[in-house]
Amino acid sequence: MSPLPPSFTLRSARPNEGDALAAFNAAAHALPADDGWSEHIHDWTLDLMSGQHPGCRVDDFLVVEDPAGGIASTLVLLDQRWRVAGVTLPVGRIELVGTAPAHRRQGLVRALMEEVHRRSAARGHLLQVISGKPWFYRQFGYEYALAKTSSASLPVGAIATSPGDQLNVRPARESDLDFITDLAEVGAARDGVTCVRSREQWGYDLDTPRPGNGHAIEVGVLERHDSASIGFVAHHRRLHDGRLLIRAVELVDPSRWPSLSDPLLAVLAARGRERAGAQTLEQLALLLGGRHPIVALSGAAAELPSDEWYVRIADVAALLEALRPALDRRTAGSDLFRAWSGRLELDWHRGGLSVAWEDGRVTAIEPRVRVPSEEADVALPVGALWMLLLGHRSIDELEACYPDCVVGNPSTRVQLRCLFPRQSAAVWSVL
Ligand SMILES: CC(C)(COP(=O)(O)OP(=O)(O)OC[C@H]1O[C@@H](n2cnc3c(N)ncnc32)[C@H](O)[C@@H]1OP(=O)(O)O)[C@@H](O)C(=O)NCCC(=O)NCCS
Repeated sequence: MSPLPPSFTLRSARPNEGDALAAFNAAAHALPADDGWSEHIHDWTLDLMSGQHPGCRVDDFLVVEDPAGGIASTLVLLDQRWRVAGVTLPVGRIELVGTAPAHRRQGLVRALMEEVHRRSAARGHLLQVISGKPWFYRQFGYEYALAKTSSASLPVGAIATSPGDQLNVRPARESDLDFITDLAEVGAARDGVTCVRSREQWGYDLDTPRPGNGHAIEVGVLERHDSASIGFVAHHRRLHDGRLLIRAVELVDPSRWPSLSDPLLAVLAARGRERAGAQTLEQLALLLGGRHPIVALSGAAAELPSDEWYVRIADVAALLEALRPALDRRTAGSDLFRAWSGRLELDWHRGGLSVAWEDGRVTAIEPRVRVPSEEADVALPVGALWMLLLGHRSIDELEACYPDCVVGNPSTRVQLRCLFPRQSAAVWSVL
């Protein structure tokens, strides 16, 4: 492990440290224009330390303690499940990385990152993901390898003021959790990369987060006048810069999108106005990905995500093994490769894999040992390979961007297009 300064120690957080960590994080992550940000960091830390969060235990916070026993640096590892091409993968999301100003540039975060990678691997996480400070996490082996959810904005002036009498919305209750979880799963199938939200997570979101926690959401169940549930909406409790952030809108019957899309937007705008407090509601931000029906039907201006996920994949073979069902499914759907037998040699210069197929199915994923990269079917930088595996970039895009992405022959290129097509990502991570 990277050395810590003398008399500094690295350990897990303790159950009685919630307040200290919340105060530390609020100070370490302070912004010049606060606008509720410190309160958000403070309350979010307390919620994560509460022992109630389905993806976070108290000892998922790591702490570097200074010689006087104070917190010098910390981060937290969140345990999540993401779905990639229909396969559910264990994922570690690293958050709230911060060092006290007096202890910066002494290698504390470097030591924490090494420890968190060790713990994350021990939990079976196939990916580590971070959303954060530009460039910084590249130093710890991360690459921008996945798109963030695209957002579409609608000015409230463009939305009807009254939802009409077609829709009732009421606060979601415990007894709605199965309905919400199942319907959210149907919606998640629109995109190739999503974060799984379990029933337990929805239950946590309904009850636990403190109001100051900016990740706190409200869930409303949509009803017909005979009280049958026809869908649900989920949005942040607080406005962000005059915008109500919409996280989920789902209908049981997809044929009703065309007639209910405008009333739904009116319902959401009304809820935003009610929650605006001292702010003025200016926009609905539809954080639903580019494939959501309401985005297309409303004509909302889609914004390209200004940011991407940092991703780290320490064990490419394990990821590929997990993705095997998706590879078999894609091969089975291809006229050209459904009965293919042979080997595909993947190489990233510091390692490589030989993947064997028989009659259109993957039969073995083995390391390439001492075989020159030049003899591989495809050789590319490892970060580019991650982009390919996650469907962030196609093989054609990677070849166009990276001179050191080399595809041995045209038929391999066609096969890679089949195995690793681009896929849309709409990750609403469990926070
Ligand atoms: C960014 C921050 C977490 C770095 O913590 P730290 O304990 O000083 O980091 P380390 O000393 O372990 O530095 C690790 C590496 O990053 C480099 N580094 C440190 N701060 C950096 C910065 N602000 N920008 C770029 N590189 C930085 C170091 O030089 C070191 O590289 P080296 O090992 O090659 O010398 C800390 O400055 C901080 O808490 N900032 C405010 C909160 C924040 O921005 N958190 C990140 C949110 S995503």
